[in-house]
Amino acid sequence: MPKSLLIIHSSARANRSLTRELAQIFEESWTRSGGGAVGHRDVGLTPPAILNEDWIAAAFTDPSELTDAQKETLAESDTLIDEIKSADVIALCAPMYNYSMPASLKAWFDLIARVGVTFSFDLARGDTPIEPILTGKKLVVLSSRGEFGFAPGGERAHLNGLDPAIAASAHYLGADAGEMETIAIEYQEFGDKRFETSLAAARSRAKQAAIELAI
Ligand SMILES: Cc1cc2nc3c(=O)[nH]c(=O)nc-3n(C[C@H](O)[C@H](O)[C@H](O)COP(=O)(O)O)c2cc1C
Repeated sequence: MPKSLLIIHSSARANRSLTRELAQIFEESWTRSGGGAVGHRDVGLTPPAILNEDWIAAAFTDPSELTDAQKETLAESDTLIDEIKSADVIALCAPMYNYSMPASLKAWFDLIARVGVTFSFDLARGDTPIEPILTGKKLVVLSSRGEFGFAPGGERAHLNGLDPAIAASAHYLGADAGEMETIAIEYQEFGDKRFETSLAAARSRAKQAAIELAI
């Protein structure tokens, strides 16, 4: 059975987006390599709802006691989680915005982190009450940054509020943060030789990573 891929876009730009370009390279390589169905979710162009009090109350209500209105409140979250459940591999396109993730992507994470659905919470487990419910998925992050040096040990590593946040939430997607790969273009704002080198390396790695993940 071929593996299925879910691509999440979060660039606010429909055109000239480098993360969208990496995703296209990844998808083409995936399909050429025998990978199966590809689903797309574009939170950059169509942002999900922001959490509010009604949503939180519904998410913490026993499913058997949900009112019709509460079911409707959770419907978008249900859809987004179903998309994750049906994927073997998730390609998360995550541009760096203001040293963190785009607000639309954070909204998506907030909707897919659901008690009793993507994680369980049990104080009987002591100081580690949270356990993921989904398992066995591979996560690849396709990113782009205007500046550079955000990898561990780099000159801007201390400013990187993007990669650690994704790693912290990877378990909600059923992915192991330790196995997650981040392919990141840097130097975009400089547009110089360093950018060209970084872009070429990211394109090449995206193509290869898709081959490795499709089989
Ligand atoms: C609103 C906004 C905020 C940004 N903030 C940062 C930042 O904090 N650090 C950085 O290195 N680049 C920053 N950039 C540059 C983007 O990371 C870069 O342009 C990237 O290529 C955007 O992804 P995209 O090409 O897929 O749209 C920012 C760009 C935008 C549009």
